[in-house]
Amino acid sequence: MIRSVVRGYGSCLPKRVMTNKDMEGVVDTTDEWIIQRTGIRQRYIAGEDETTCSLGAGAAKAALENAGLGPQDIDLIIVATSTPDNTFPAAAVDIQNRLGMRHGAAFDVQAVCTGFVYAMTTADAYLRGGLAKRALVIGSETFSRILDWDDRGTCVLFGDGAGALVLEAVESPGELSDRGVLASKLRSDGCHKEKLYVDGGPSSTQKVGHLRMQGREVFKHAVGMITDVIESVFDATGMTAEDIDWFVPHQANKRIIDASARKLGIDPKKVVITVDRYGNTSAASIPLALVDALEDGRIKENDVVLLEAMGGGFTWGAVMVRW
Ligand code: ACO
Repeated sequence: MIRSVVRGYGSCLPKRVMTNKDMEGVVDTTDEWIIQRTGIRQRYIAGEDETTCSLGAGAAKAALENAGLGPQDIDLIIVATSTPDNTFPAAAVDIQNRLGMRHGAAFDVQAVCTGFVYAMTTADAYLRGGLAKRALVIGSETFSRILDWDDRGTCVLFGDGAGALVLEAVESPGELSDRGVLASKLRSDGCHKEKLYVDGGPSSTQKVGHLRMQGREVFKHAVGMITDVIESVFDATGMTAEDIDWFVPHQANKRIIDASARKLGIDPKKVVITVDRYGNTSAASIPLALVDALEDGRIKENDVVLLEAMGGGFTWGAVMVRW
C-alpha cells in the first residue's frame, strides 16, 4: 500500500508583533483578561506588503528547502485558507505561480480553522490514490483583514501566519509502525453557522465582511466535538492516548486545548502550545505549531503525532501521523 510520509516543513510569519499591551490601545481590554481567558500574549499581524499568498509562498519555499526538494518535484498544492488574496484564482494557484511552477494541480480547501486537517486528509487521499506523487500542503491566513477591530470579543483572539508540509507517496507494508498518515476523520454540521461566520461574501453582500462569533456557544461545543472525532481516530488505529508522542491541536484557546487533553487522558507534557505567541491563526495554526515542535527537536522521526481542529461551520477533524 501507499502511505503519505512527511518529507519537509516550513513556516512564514509577518514581521509585526502585536502584544496584548498594544491591543489595549485598540479596544477596551487588558493583558490580564486576554491571558486568563485565552492564553494569548501576542500575535503577528500582516503588514501592507504581506498577504495570505505571500506568507503561504514563504512557508512553501521553506518547506521545500527543508525537504531538499524544488518546485519541479511537486505535483499537487493544496492551500487551506478562508482569507485568500482574491475571490479567485485560488490562493494555491497564486502560490504555484510564485514558486515558478507551471505543472501539476493546485486548489484551495475552505474549512476555516479545520482547514489544515481537511487539506492533509485530501492530499493523503490523492497520494494514496496515485493521483499525485508529492504534495505541498499549506495553511495560510490573514484573519486580521476580516476582523471587526471595534469588537473586543473577537479581535484580540486572532493572528496571521502560514505553515507548510511536503507529503510524499511512499510504498509501505501498511503496518502501524510504518511512517506516514495512519488515519484521519473529518466532520461538519452546518446548523451551527450563526455561532461563527463572516457576515459577507461575493454572492450575498458583495463585500468581504467581518468575523462574527458567539464565543460562549463555540466554547460549549468545542471540547465534545474535538474529543469525539479523536476517539474515532483512536478506534480506526487501535491506538490510545498512551500511544501518542505529541498532541498538536488547533491553537484557538488554551482552555479548550487543556480541557480536550484532560478529557482524552493525554499527558500535558505531550501537548504542543503556540497560542501564547501566535494567537489563533485558523488554518495556519497546526502547521505553525508543528514547525515549532520540529525545529526545537521535540517531534522526531517515528513519533506518533495527533492533530485536531474545530472551527466555523462547524467543521472538525483529526489526523494521526507517524512522523
Ligand atoms: N477584554 C475584556 N473584556 C472582554 C473582552 C476583552 N477582549 N471580550 C469580552 N469581554 C467581556 C464581555 O463584554 C463580557 O462583559 P460583561 O459580562 O460585562 O457583559 C465578559 O467579558 C464576558 O464575556 P464572554 O464572551 O461571556 O466571555 P468568555 O468567558 O466566554 O470568554 C472567549 C470569551 C475568550 C471568546 C471564550 O468564549 C472563548 O474562548 N470561546 C471560544 C471561541 C474561540 O476560541 N473561537 C475561535 C474560533 S473557533 C475555533 O478556532 C475553535
